[in-house]
Amino acid sequence: MVSEVSRPYIDASVPVLREHGLTITRTFYRNMFEAHPELKNLFNMGNQASGVQQQSLASAVFAYAANIDNAAALAPVVRRIVHKHVSVGITAEHYPIVGQHLLGAIQEVLGDAATPQLLYAWREAYSELATALIDAENAMYASANIYPGQLRDMRVTEVRDESEDIKAFVLEPVDGLAAPAFKPGQYVSVSVNFDDGTTQLRQYSLSDAPNGRTLRISIKRERRDENKPEGLVSNWLHDNAGKGTVIRMTHPFGDFTPDTESTSPIVLLSAGVGITPMISALNHIALVNPNRPVLFAHATRDSSYHAHRADVSQAKKTMPDLRVVTFYEDGNDCDGVTTLAGRMLLSKLPGWPHDEANVYLCGPVEFMQEQWSALTKAGVSAARLHREVFGPELLNYLN
Ligand SMILES: Cc1cc2nc3c(=O)[nH]c(=O)nc-3n(C[C@H](O)[C@H](O)[C@H](O)COP(=O)(O)OP(=O)(O)OC[C@H]3O[C@@H](n4cnc5c(N)ncnc54)[C@H](O)[C@@H]3O)c2cc1C
Ligand code: HEM
Repeated sequence: MVSEVSRPYIDASVPVLREHGLTITRTFYRNMFEAHPELKNLFNMGNQASGVQQQSLASAVFAYAANIDNAAALAPVVRRIVHKHVSVGITAEHYPIVGQHLLGAIQEVLGDAATPQLLYAWREAYSELATALIDAENAMYASANIYPGQLRDMRVTEVRDESEDIKAFVLEPVDGLAAPAFKPGQYVSVSVNFDDGTTQLRQYSLSDAPNGRTLRISIKRERRDENKPEGLVSNWLHDNAGKGTVIRMTHPFGDFTPDTESTSPIVLLSAGVGITPMISALNHIALVNPNRPVLFAHATRDSSYHAHRADVSQAKKTMPDLRVVTFYEDGNDCDGVTTLAGRMLLSKLPGWPHDEANVYLCGPVEFMQEQWSALTKAGVSAARLHREVFGPELLNYLN
């Protein structure tokens, strides 16, 4: 608990953070990377360039300030951060560096308004949050039996063009031991060393059921356009990873884990490359629970962008209660029954018992906002809604 003395300063910070949160975290990252350029290898510099990571840390700090006495509200936020931190290899030694530069940035941006009492209160709050994160992260490293940042060499055994812009890579451990166990929905961080000496890590959801021998990831090529450069890691993998290439990756982590074991109905809604965790869940349900009622709905641009069709066709053969609906935004190749023209609309999906089914969402932010809002308006309780964001979670964008 933050002390009684500090508490009012934290409370008073909420509107201040709301106003200055983004500037503070931008200043923080700039100063920290200047003092510790080696940390750039840990962070996703694509997220830094596009600004989403700054927003994410700002919203985490704000959520913490706003909910300082509400552990229940903070728990899912902390859980997501812990999984992400463990996936990229954060250790206790990193926390003082971040703490020093975060407090320094608060001071720099707020100027005279950053009184010694306010800074003391935030030092205390940061240290409390850091301790909670460090403890949970250490416990997770121990339970996975790995050291922080541990990478494993995995050899590509198969590459498959899944769609116009998605390739699936099947990988087996080079050490000849079993592939790691994981829960459908979890991701690995892939580490790529570039010719200029930099390293970057990116998360990829596992796109097949766990089998103990191989892992599969499916990667969308992030192309350049007039406003943005091409994505570093996805293009490198598309261009360089072929059969026989060895790729380094972390143990699987992630807190988005569709409940594949229960027998109650389940709804899996995805768009674009957001299909990956859903295919892992579907393939696992097909193995462990094929009679389960499953609604699998997917939205994509057109049939040439429709990935993992073979997995869904295979699942249909063994799952009598699987209902599949696909939406093609451009309207071509639609049969009007299982493939519908336009964007995914809740009103066009077959119904399901709202009080029995959990609903899982993954796709672009706009897709998730639309679905989340339609689902809650239709009476689906927030407790039954779960989402995965393929980037830093912007904590309050959906609420
Ligand atoms: C939990 C999780 C699971 C994921 N699962 C998958 C998955 O299964 N499959 C998948 O394909 N992806 C997945 N992702 C996304 C993946 O991790 C990468 O973010 C994605 O591959 C892009 O990485 P990149 O290195 O190619 O692009 P980056 O180089 O990281 O660039 C990302 C974006 O930022 C833009 N950008 C870069 N620099 C600038 C700049 N200066 N100004 C403006 N824009 C800029 C790029 O154009 C690009 O659109 C997942 C992400 C998370 C967090
Ligand atoms: C109390 C302290 C911290 C808080 C509140 C915090 C918060 C966050 C949040 C909200 C995310 C995004 C999670 C998501 O994907 O949704 C994140 C990711 C991350 N954090 Fe932290 N963090 C803290 C400490 C640290 C430290 C000490 C380091 C190490 C230098 C660190 C490095 C990272 C990295 C590398 C990522 C992944 C993001 C990326 O790839 O760019 N964090 N953190």
